[in-house]
Amino acid sequence: MVSKINKKILLAVSGGIAAYKTAELVRLLRKKNAEVRVVLTHAAAKFVTPLTFQALSGHAVATELLDTGQENAMGHINLARWADLLIVAPASANIIAKFSHGIADDLLSTLYLAAECPVYVAPAMNQAMWHKPATQDNIKRIQNHGVTLIGPDSGNQACGEQGFGRMSAPQEICNCLLTGNTSSLLQGKSILISAGPTREPLDPVRYITNRSSGKMGYALAEAAINQGASVTMISGPVSLTAPPKTSLIQVETAQQMYEEVLQRASLYDVYIGAAAVADYSPDIVKDEKIKKQADRTTLVLRKNKDILSAVAHLKQRPFTVGFAAETHELERYARGKLERKNLDMIAANWVGKESGGFEDDNNALQVFWRQGRQHFEMMNKKKLAEKLIELIAEKVDEKSTTKNP
Ligand code: PMT
Repeated sequence: MVSKINKKILLAVSGGIAAYKTAELVRLLRKKNAEVRVVLTHAAAKFVTPLTFQALSGHAVATELLDTGQENAMGHINLARWADLLIVAPASANIIAKFSHGIADDLLSTLYLAAECPVYVAPAMNQAMWHKPATQDNIKRIQNHGVTLIGPDSGNQACGEQGFGRMSAPQEICNCLLTGNTSSLLQGKSILISAGPTREPLDPVRYITNRSSGKMGYALAEAAINQGASVTMISGPVSLTAPPKTSLIQVETAQQMYEEVLQRASLYDVYIGAAAVADYSPDIVKDEKIKKQADRTTLVLRKNKDILSAVAHLKQRPFTVGFAAETHELERYARGKLERKNLDMIAANWVGKESGGFEDDNNALQVFWRQGRQHFEMMNKKKLAEKLIELIAEKVDEKSTTKNP
């Protein structure tokens, strides 16, 4: 049965290659009984034609601010009054900047100022443009003005680069608009998570590892995505499937994890180090299988670089959350790591007990930050991850408010 959704949706398309995907969004919205009217900026009309959107929406497409076809030449006011909601997809860095500063020099920017309905924005741009402080400031400003962000996602970009700035999938935008499901504590935020164990080879067939299953890290990825974040996960070898929409990078050794994390960490808003990274690796990795010889033998190990500490000491650092796996003196060691590694927060768990910690489906956490602490009792790791993500979102928000009051 087709549900009765009769929303009047004003869909604005700004200039960007993702404009071609918006045609599909019109089709999806109409399939759900929404009435759709489309506005194209001049730049958008270079990527897609008004005729495409006219055919799909069943209405003439508006492109001009001063529209003599409208009786009172107030097309923008009429459209703004008509709409139950305004969605801008794709929203370019330029249109977001105009919204942020109240510039009204074309149909869409003027419509935005005239609109009293809820406004949704689905950004799409090159990853470097997305990460520029100017764009991030503009995003914060429009969010403070009441705009709801949808996306962006991360992945391959039309320019050949990889990263954040891809427009969310039309189906996802459609769902957000029609269900109002915008659980969005981390909307517009990018989160990098390390998960699972690392494997440190001794020879072609043997390695040193630990008991991490990846459950805690993977649950955090899912919880962050459900709060609207774009998530990249650097995972050691585990037998889990990454949650949908996670950008997954698989590694094996601590050195590989270090390289993958460090080459991108400064582009992210938050880093969560949930991986159980090997502290030491065999000093020499043999090319051939080590032969059984003496009754006793010695392995020489060399210390690995500390990924978490390196991230937290970057000049442009994300909000950095560590984990601490302890068998004794949990608070003392965890607070020591918080200080020594220059972290914003640390989530400490007991390991080596009957329940919780490594491998188990359940876990308990003592979370510490400089001015406070929070205890999460033993519960399923998925539920626990939701709670930790909510706490992280709150502290990230507090930190950015202190920085930009
Ligand atoms: O994967 P599961 O089976 O679900 O188990 C979850 C977990 C117990 C692995 C997880 O909750 C956890 O505690 N992860 C961190 C384990 C750990 O390595 O703790 P640590 O106290 O040794 O390290 C402290 C922090 O430094 C961690 O954030 C770790 O990722 C980081 N670290 C450590 C060494 C290193 N070379 N680089 C690092 O980044």
